[in-house]
Amino acid sequence: MTEEAGARCAVIIVAAGSGERLGQGMPKARVPLGGSTMLAHAVNGVVKAGIAGQICIAVPAGDQEMVELCGELAAAHAEQPDLVWNVVDGGADRTASVRAALAMVGPDISTVLVHDAARPLTPTGVFERVVAALRDGAKAVIPALAVVDTIKTVVPAEFPATGAGVEKVSGTPARSRLRAVQTPQGFELETLRRAHAYAATLVPAEAAQITDDAMLVEAMGGDVFVVQGSTHSLKITTPMDLLLADAMLQGPLRPRWVEG
Ligand code: CTP
Ligand code: MG
Repeated sequence: MTEEAGARCAVIIVAAGSGERLGQGMPKARVPLGGSTMLAHAVNGVVKAGIAGQICIAVPAGDQEMVELCGELAAAHAEQPDLVWNVVDGGADRTASVRAALAMVGPDISTVLVHDAARPLTPTGVFERVVAALRDGAKAVIPALAVVDTIKTVVPAEFPATGAGVEKVSGTPARSRLRAVQTPQGFELETLRRAHAYAATLVPAEAAQITDDAMLVEAMGGDVFVVQGSTHSLKITTPMDLLLADAMLQGPLRPRWVEG
């Protein structure tokens, strides 16, 4: 990764969620993980990947503790004086948090990666694959993994005898063509800006369906390319995910940073 390439890429880290499902009584990004915090792992992973010229972190609005944590993390990387840091108040949903961070992206930036603080163990190789795809001309790129479970679609239904409300299978998509999507998701800056301008036109019911930025590009008819993700990029959503991530940091998988 050259300095020149790094200088044109901004990484947005969305860390403004409340972490309801993790249930730790604090925003998820502040939750302890492997001796530090989830946010520290996410930020250090981005810096270590060497692809960022700017890092914009969206934190819960008014969360001073998180702002201070971001300041400490920036100070810990003073060895990279050209790296620009921004901390912004996030919004009510992930899309709003990305939009707030996007407003901070500098004029020298041509590509943007959007990364969940909730995927703190994402290896360098994933960042590199996403950036390489952008350099190869992709305007939107996502890391993803093949799905191991068989996935069904369902519709509301009733048991014939009792009328009890249940779900009924309506279809089984071919598993070979299904992918589980991760972050960081990479975009040409203008494509991401247009995607978020489009998001602002959605009615609330439509906006509630948007779970990542790639969906916005898809909805605009843009091509979204796929690169290989990593099992180490697991998203920490529930207490079991946190247990697994902690175990990864203590166990034989600890040298995760060298994973491709
Ligand atoms: N996120 C954000 N702003 C929001 C909501 C989510 O920046 N208003 C971020 C989270 O901080 C997280 C990522 O988007 O890094 C994925 O969201 P999720 O895993 O749902 O995290 P939380 O919203 O914090 O968790 P929960 O839904 O259980 O409350
Ligand atoms: Mg959430």
